[in-house]
Amino acid sequence: MKTPVNIGLCGFGVVGEGLYQLIRNNKIARTDIQKICIKDRKKKRSIGEKYFTYNSRELIENDSVNLVVELINNADDAYEIVKNALLNGKSVVSGNKKMLAHHLDELMKIQKQEETALLYDASACGSIPVIRNLEEYYDNDLLKSITGILNGSSNYILSEIFLNNTDYDSAVKQAQKLGYAESDPATDVEGYDALYKLIIIATHGFGTYVSPEKIFTYGISALNKWDVFYAKEKGLKIKPVAQVAKTGKGKFTMFVAPKLVKPEEYIYNVEHENNGVVIEGECYDKQFMFGKGAGAFPTASSVLSDITARSYNYKYEYKKKNYFSRMNYVTDVAVEIYLRYENVLDFSYFDFEEISEKYASKSFNYVIGKIKLSNLLEMNGLLRRLNIFIAFTGK
Ligand SMILES: NC(=O)c1ccc[n+]([C@@H]2O[C@H](COP(=O)([O-])OP(=O)(O)OC[C@H]3O[C@@H](n4cnc5c(N)ncnc54)[C@H](OP(=O)(O)O)[C@@H]3O)[C@@H](O)[C@H]2O)c1
Repeated sequence: MKTPVNIGLCGFGVVGEGLYQLIRNNKIARTDIQKICIKDRKKKRSIGEKYFTYNSRELIENDSVNLVVELINNADDAYEIVKNALLNGKSVVSGNKKMLAHHLDELMKIQKQEETALLYDASACGSIPVIRNLEEYYDNDLLKSITGILNGSSNYILSEIFLNNTDYDSAVKQAQKLGYAESDPATDVEGYDALYKLIIIATHGFGTYVSPEKIFTYGISALNKWDVFYAKEKGLKIKPVAQVAKTGKGKFTMFVAPKLVKPEEYIYNVEHENNGVVIEGECYDKQFMFGKGAGAFPTASSVLSDITARSYNYKYEYKKKNYFSRMNYVTDVAVEIYLRYENVLDFSYFDFEEISEKYASKSFNYVIGKIKLSNLLEMNGLLRRLNIFIAFTGK
């Protein structure tokens, strides 16, 4: 029989309140929220004051709480809460991708040292159970790549542009109005949200944690009508892609970038706020997971699934890290890109190994060519200041 779970909940926002309602309305057996920690004393709440505290220590140091569920929107505070809870012997469930992407290495060590558990399936792809799947299946030796549309906001914006001919700014506004994008959409449209998820996915898929600054991350914010024109003319779509892929024995690489996608690719039809993940292996070709990557109930259901898993004492064993030979992260690999530019000076920054196509016109210029990922990574800061757009072609 499952152990009773007495939750100390941190955060009562979109996901936290969603979780509260999910547990209350479905009367989940032997699962109870004991106390909820929030920050803003002036905010109006949908439930009585007696449930709340403003001090996370009241959860972490509370003997009747046996699981801390961290669902707050501040990565630094989340790190302190999660770390202290684990050090205090409490198991934790978290949905905080940014915090995990920066601190997962240390948090893995603390779990081992304290013999506690940290589960975070909701942090990557909301309702899609991608982390636990990677953890339990897909042997390292046979796994070739994981490719995902991991950011619903960027995908929504691109769907509007491609399917409904909406311009970029209007598509962003629409995404904000529908709650798919933040008032400051930078984290989504510059690729960072997908990056954080990719780091977590790669840790469970290939067993090696790579810190955010080491990964090429490029978003969709510089897209213009000529990029859409180019893609449509070739029968392609541009999709916000995050990928981790084996490049040889014991080696893998990863990046976040827009990609020109062909109709026969699974992710071609992943539209609007949805997420999709393609897992490619030696023996099974490709498998595809599709679903809601965000939202109160889709995300809360994933958190609840982690809570239930803890009641059966489930913990990540970090199998790929602990039982397989170490995979090394490399960036010395050539990738083919589409580069749209306006002036030759911007083009001159790119150290192409080969160029297969070049186009010049009064309206826009582009090249298709191979370049080292390491070269793009070195230019990561500069790219955002140039009048260019890049999309990977997948070759
Ligand atoms: N929204 C989604 O669809 C989604 C999907 C996947 C993962 N996530 C992740 O889930 C987490 C929560 O997201 P959300 O959308 O629910 O955020 P949200 O709606 O902005 O709510 C955040 C909550 O955190 C509380 N909070 C902030 N700092 C705190 C602190 N230091 N101590 C205690 N409480 C604090 C806030 O308190 P007040 O109410 O007092 O302001 C608020 O209740 C984030 O890590 C996010 O990345 C969200």
